[in-house]
Amino acid sequence: MRLPTPAYLIDLAVIRTNCEALSGLKARTGCRIVQALKAFALPAAFPVLRAHLDGCCASGLWEARLAREYFGETVLTCGPVYRDTDTDLFDLSSHLIFNSLSHWQHWRHYALNHPRYQEGIISYGIRLNPQCSTGSTPIYDPCRPGSRLGALPDSLKNADLEGISGCHFHSLCDQNSDALATTLEALDRHFGALLRLPQIRWLNMGGGHALTRPDYDQKLLVDLIKQSQDCYHLDEIWLEPGEAPVLKSGSLHASVLDIFQSGEQTVAILDVSATAHMPDVLEMPYRPELTLEGIPSLERGPHSYHLGGCTCLAGDSIGSYSFHRPLKIGDRLVFEDMAQYTMVKTTLFNGIQHPSIVLRDESGKDQIIRAFDYQDFKQRLM
Ligand SMILES: Cc1ncc(COP(=O)(O)O)c(C=O)c1O
Repeated sequence: MRLPTPAYLIDLAVIRTNCEALSGLKARTGCRIVQALKAFALPAAFPVLRAHLDGCCASGLWEARLAREYFGETVLTCGPVYRDTDTDLFDLSSHLIFNSLSHWQHWRHYALNHPRYQEGIISYGIRLNPQCSTGSTPIYDPCRPGSRLGALPDSLKNADLEGISGCHFHSLCDQNSDALATTLEALDRHFGALLRLPQIRWLNMGGGHALTRPDYDQKLLVDLIKQSQDCYHLDEIWLEPGEAPVLKSGSLHASVLDIFQSGEQTVAILDVSATAHMPDVLEMPYRPELTLEGIPSLERGPHSYHLGGCTCLAGDSIGSYSFHRPLKIGDRLVFEDMAQYTMVKTTLFNGIQHPSIVLRDESGKDQIIRAFDYQDFKQRLM
């Protein structure tokens, strides 16, 4: 099938390969791994993920609902805050994590009296801020000064934590296990006494682990998980990666709509947008890999273009790319590694065409599972 553009193409075979690697890690470490829906939440891909992973990590009510409807009963919910009307979270979650001591105190009475807690079906955790920045992008650093994510050690001194049986931290972003080692040292320094309390039965080490990247040091992860288990006598250690299970499984297919000269630069305008369809390109910022006719582009070369998105944002810019031949209108460009943090974050800004979602099954057959039209734009605003 010739794909329409714009379109996200999700390749289930790649997801399966990633998940098989994660299954191997689970077997070697005894840890449990869930898919963070904030990164990727496509129900059509859930059967492959579900076959290998233990459940989902949800950021709040709607993701928890999606997880229960389409994935299964293991739902680790961790959001910065829950509204008083979010009581369904107690029916939907297997583990419910509170971001601060004050929020736990707000919910404590309700939580401890909930029938699912009394039957032992749901357990409660507190998010800790290990105060250890190992990444380089402040917008993705929950440990940056003044962070609102996770309790600081002082806030938990002499706190009544009756009912809390788990601890959670998330402070990595696409990092190797050496960053986890550094973080675990900081965690122990700040929260070691809490983690050693007999009431603490599980530790959730969040996401941001580049588990399926070829350079990832799995042996160190295995050692770190074993050490944590031995040191804190835990029943469960959880990882909640968003990116790792779907790494390299998605691409964004675009067409060239216009080409013109702007001063020194040749500009090509595409039918996709950085801000609306691949926001991490602007937020990280990062430069996605790109191919023309299957041939990777270069950073510099004879046929260079500044690739622009199709919205009015002056900074809707994907970057400068060079190709093996001059571009022409109608050419198709493929941006790589576009499964995570794309479809879950996209907007209909400017009323531009939203990319269709296409699933490539494991026999290589493509199926459009969602196409968007004017009604989708209009209905969000009416
Ligand atoms: C609490 C939490 N868990 C898990 C993740 C998933 O992280 P990643 O997709 O980098 O693995 C995130 C990402 O922001 C997060 O905030």
